[in-house]
Amino acid sequence: MKKGSIASKIWIGAFSFFLWVNSSAETLLPQNMKSMSVGNVDCASSTCHGSVVPWNQSSVLQNEYLTWKNADRHSQSYQGLLSQKSIQIAKKLSLPQPAHLTTQCLNCHTHNPDKKFQGANFSLQDGVGCESCHGNAEKWGVSHTKKGVTHQENIKNGLYPTSQPVALAKLCNSCHVGNTTNFASHRLMAAGHPRLSIEINTFLKIQPPHYLVDEDYKFRKGDISPVKKWAIGQAETITARLEMLSDPKRNHQGIFPELALFECSACHHPLGSQQRTSKINQAPGVLRLNDSGLLMLRAIIQVAFPDKLGQFNSLVTGLDQSLSEKNTLANPLENIQDNTKKLLLFIQQMVPALEAYPFRPEKIREIFLALVKGSPDYSNYADAEQAYMALSSIGEVYLQNYSKNAIQIKNSMAQLSKELANKDQFQSQNFIKEYSKFTQFLQVQNGVQ
Ligand code: HEC
Ligand code: HEC
Ligand code: HEC
Ligand code: HEC
Repeated sequence: MKKGSIASKIWIGAFSFFLWVNSSAETLLPQNMKSMSVGNVDCASSTCHGSVVPWNQSSVLQNEYLTWKNADRHSQSYQGLLSQKSIQIAKKLSLPQPAHLTTQCLNCHTHNPDKKFQGANFSLQDGVGCESCHGNAEKWGVSHTKKGVTHQENIKNGLYPTSQPVALAKLCNSCHVGNTTNFASHRLMAAGHPRLSIEINTFLKIQPPHYLVDEDYKFRKGDISPVKKWAIGQAETITARLEMLSDPKRNHQGIFPELALFECSACHHPLGSQQRTSKINQAPGVLRLNDSGLLMLRAIIQVAFPDKLGQFNSLVTGLDQSLSEKNTLANPLENIQDNTKKLLLFIQQMVPALEAYPFRPEKIREIFLALVKGSPDYSNYADAEQAYMALSSIGEVYLQNYSKNAIQIKNSMAQLSKELANKDQFQSQNFIKEYSKFTQFLQVQNGVQ
C-alpha cells in the first residue's frame, strides 16, 4: 500500500529476492525453532495486528488477527481436539490421553514447540496461530516493528520465510500432508480423521489471505507467480510423501507399508467400477502410491525440462515395480527404499530448477495443454482433485485471456467442482470428459478450430 522511492525498492527487492532463493534450504520449521514463542496475544493488540479495519498508513493490513480469528479455520484447530469427533478418534485408537493432551494431535492442531520454548503468554489453546506459520517471535517480534528493518533482517531474526515458495510449501505440507515427525496414519483415518490433501496455491486462497499482494508487497517480497507456487508445491508434496515412505520408522505396519501413503481408492472402491486405467506405465490390480503429484509434475517436466522426462518416467516406473508384481527380491523393503530414494533425489534436484524457471505465458499454455492431455489418467479421486486445483491455479493467470470462452470455462469449472463434491460417488469418466473440453477452449481462441 505505502508508496516510496520506487527505484530504491526495485533494487532492494531484487537483491533480497536473490538472497532468499539461496537461503531457504536449512530453515527450521516454526515447530522446531529454538527460540521463545511469545504467544498470539502479543500480536493481537489494536495497534499491532488486531485492528478492526485495514490501515492505510502501514505497509501491512494490521487487521490480520481478526481475519484469522473470524474467517480462518486455523483459529479453531485446537478447539477441534475437544470435539465429539476427536473424543471418538481418541477412543477408537485407545490413546492413553485425550486428544488435546496427545502430542501427535497437538503437533498439527496447534503451535507446539518444545516446552522450554513456550514463553509466559504462550498458550496451546491458540491453535494454529501467528507463530505456527511465522515462527517463534522472541527476536523478530522486537525487530519487525522498528523502522527501516528489512524483511531479510527479520528472517535472520527467526521470521519464517513464508514469502518464499519452497519454505511456504514445506510449512503447509508439514500439517496438510505430514512429514516424518507429524504423521497422519491410515489408522488415524480409519478412526474417523478426514483424509489429508492440499494444493498450496488453492489453499492459500481458501485460508483466506490476511495480506494484500499489491505493488508495495511485491517490491518488498517479490512477485511470485501462482503457477510457480503450484509447481513447487507439487514437488514438495511428493518429497514429503517419499520421505515418509523411505523412513524405516514409518513405512511399515504389520505386513503392509503404511496405507495412508497409497491412493485411498486403490482399495476403497466398489468392485467392477473399472476405475483402473493405466497411469504412468502401471498394470491393473496393483496397489498405487498416492501419486497425484507425480502426474502434475509429469506435465511440468514435459514442458519445462523435456530432456528429463525419460529419466523421471523410468524412476517412477522403478518405484511402482518395486512396490508390486515385479518384486521377487529377498529384501523387498530395501528395494522399495532404494527406489524411493532415487526418485526423491531427482525431485529434490528439480526444486531449485523450478524456483529459477521463468513461467512465461507460452510455457504456461503448454503445461495447461499437457495437463488436459493427461486427463485419461485422472481416474481416481485424488488425481482428479489435484488436476482440478491445477486448472484453477493456472487459470488464475492464464484462462483470463480467453474472454471469448469465459462463460463456457466458468461452467466447465463449476461442473468439475460438482463432479468432485462427493468422493464416494466420484465417476471418473464424467470428470475426464469435462476436463478434456479445455483443449477446445484454448484452440477456439487461437483460431485453430
Ligand atoms: C499430520 C497432521 C495431523 C495430525 C497428526 C492430526 N491432524 Fe487432525 N487435521 C489435520 C488437518 C490438516 C485437518 C484439516 C483437513 C482438511 O480439512 O483439509 C485436520 C482435521 C481434523 C478434524 C476435523 C475438523 C473438522 O472440523 O472437521 C478432527 C476432528 C481432527 N483433525 C482431529 C485430530 C485428532 C484427534 C488427532 C490426533 C489423534 C489429529 N487430528 C491428528 C492435521 C492433522
Ligand atoms: C497458516 C499460516 C499462517 C498463519 C496462521 C498466519 N499467517 Fe500471516 N502470513 C501467512 C502467509 C502464507 C503470508 C504471505 C506470505 C508472506 O508475505 O510472508 C502471510 C503474511 C503475513 C503478513 C505480511 C503482510 C505483508 O504485506 O507483508 C503479516 C503482517 C501477517 N501474515 C501477520 C499474521 C498474524 C498477525 C497472524 C496471527 C493472527 C498470522 N499472520 C497468522 C501465513 C500465516
Ligand atoms: C501447524 C499445522 C498447520 C500448518 C503449518 C498449516 N495448517 Fe492449514 N490447517 C491445519 C489444521 C489442523 C486445519 C483444520 C482446522 C479445523 O478445521 O479444525 C487446517 C485447515 C486449513 C484450511 C481449511 C481447510 C478446509 O477444509 O476448509 C486451509 C485452507 C488451510 N489449512 C490452509 C493452509 C495453508 C495455505 C498453510 C500454509 C501457509 C497451512 N494451512 C498451514 C493445520 C495447519
Ligand atoms: C491397501 C489398501 C488400503 C488403502 C490404500 C487404504 N485403505 Fe483404508 N482400509 C483398508 C482396510 C483393509 C481397512 C479395514 C477394513 C475395513 O474397515 O473395511 C480400511 C479401513 C478404512 C476406514 C474405516 C472404514 C470403516 O468402515 O470403518 C477408513 C475411513 C479408511 N480406511 C480410509 C482410508 C483413506 C482415507 C485412505 C487413503 C489415505 C485409505 N483408507 C487407504 C485398506 C486400505
